[in-house]
Amino acid sequence: PTPTPTPSYGITFASVAANMNDTVTVPTGYTVQVLLKAGDSIEAGTAYADAYPTPDQAEKWAGGNHDGMAYFELSGTDANSGGLLAINFEYPDFNILMDGDYDADTATAAQKALALSAVGIGVVEVAKASDGSWSVKADSKYNKRYTGNSSYKASGPASGLLSGTIKGMLNNCSSGRTPWGTYLTCEETTDNYLDPTQPEENYGWVVEIDPYQELAAPTKRTALGRFDHENVAYMADSNSRVAFYMGHDGTPGCIYKFVCDRAYSSSNRAANTDMLDHGTLYVARFNGDGTGEWRALVQGQNGLTAGASDPGNVSQFTTPPEPTMVDFTNQAQVLINTISAARVAGGTVMDRPEWITVAPDNSAVFVTLTNNSSRATADAANPRTKNRHGHIIKFKEEGNSPLATTFSWEIFLLAGDPELAGFGDKLEGDINGDTFSSPDGIRIDPKGRLWVQTDHSIPGTSGKPDTSIEDVFGHNAMFYIDQTSKESKRFLVGPEGCEITGIAYTPDLTNFFINIQHPTGNWPVDGKEPRSSTIVVRRTDATPIGN
Ligand code: FEO
Ligand code: CA
Ligand code: CA
Ligand code: CA
Repeated sequence: PTPTPTPSYGITFASVAANMNDTVTVPTGYTVQVLLKAGDSIEAGTAYADAYPTPDQAEKWAGGNHDGMAYFELSGTDANSGGLLAINFEYPDFNILMDGDYDADTATAAQKALALSAVGIGVVEVAKASDGSWSVKADSKYNKRYTGNSSYKASGPASGLLSGTIKGMLNNCSSGRTPWGTYLTCEETTDNYLDPTQPEENYGWVVEIDPYQELAAPTKRTALGRFDHENVAYMADSNSRVAFYMGHDGTPGCIYKFVCDRAYSSSNRAANTDMLDHGTLYVARFNGDGTGEWRALVQGQNGLTAGASDPGNVSQFTTPPEPTMVDFTNQAQVLINTISAARVAGGTVMDRPEWITVAPDNSAVFVTLTNNSSRATADAANPRTKNRHGHIIKFKEEGNSPLATTFSWEIFLLAGDPELAGFGDKLEGDINGDTFSSPDGIRIDPKGRLWVQTDHSIPGTSGKPDTSIEDVFGHNAMFYIDQTSKESKRFLVGPEGCEITGIAYTPDLTNFFINIQHPTGNWPVDGKEPRSSTIVVRRTDATPIGN
């Protein structure tokens, strides 16, 4: 037999040009397949077919606005040709759910139930056929929806302040996973589609879900704090100690990590069920000299006491607002009011932290700061006022350890475009190569290659008079960025109106799963309503992506 050549994980693809085509554009030699559209069947039942559903029908469909995503291996299955995808549904694709716009104030009970059916997550078993194409296994026992109408538990220090059984999880933006094979889905906003009978404190958490349905029921882990959670990325060391990094997508918001008290078990999954209930939550402080520190958000420490003074969103004002008084009398109050606790403790308020990713060797952590056009006061880590196009920060934990309490950091790049130079607020940025605005999704793959996905708002202005953001950058896109030369290469461009998000892959990196969120044109089914979708990108010669 012919020996199998060693696969190359180099980056040799030819960049695709910025464009405004109503399709997914990938480099020569690559193919795109639509795998799971909003309205496709997940649990057995009907699928969307040009008619609006009942709430019971939609409860079993792929929800809408596919966002964060993770791929899980199945024992007994070659992971490169089959596994589980857990997919976040951030908000409904209303155009396939109901006639006209959704108005929370006037919505009927059925419309509210429909909206809640479309958020949450879905788990699907996917499999590759001999021709390389992928499909959802319709009869898999793993296929399951967790929605805004489902029931959830709460655990951790603030769980006593929440309902015993909670209805729904909301606005599942991005996500992450644990080393013990559970999915972490993040509630980004706490107010949209809220059932008015439900207490708001029940929302804004990281929710742990076992895609294999073996461990605990879906659980809101209050020890990780309550805020507009974007994603979660973990760093584990050789002793199985682990930290979970999280961004607060707020204007502005802080960067956090949660360090578990003990090592996880790699041999006994069930022993890890309460790992996320016992640990320390920290907020990042970025000092002007390139050093940083993690400050514990623990009642009684770092000013977190009764009568604490919250300075507020100081970066949004040139004259600081009056501080407000907050009582942190126990750890539950710290966790319910995490945003305020972080400011009291001296955390740095950043330009809307979106995703965080950790290098495979723990030597670097990257975070996207998507943009913050209302920033009035700059600092070293957020150097542009009216930061229209965002930036990316790289930091390095002391000793490359998840347990570190100090780190060093640098600005990795400032997004923007040379065409925008001279129009104010350093709009040009310093990207080397293909330019972009508003980095959002970011992931370093297992070979250490850095991928960035964008979410610039549409419609939006570039900052140059009478020039739309799409005139300069085209549609939202996905980029490879070399970490040494910082050269950026555009890998994929999305269809009209969408953002690009969600990055998952098979272990051999020959199949990338990517989410196309909120398209507005004529994609993915020509002549039909647009639908958010998970796609698969691969090379026609079945070698690793990027090569
Ligand atoms: Fe749902 Fe911050 O993106
Ligand atoms: Ca989004
Ligand atoms: Ca996002
Ligand atoms: Ca975004």
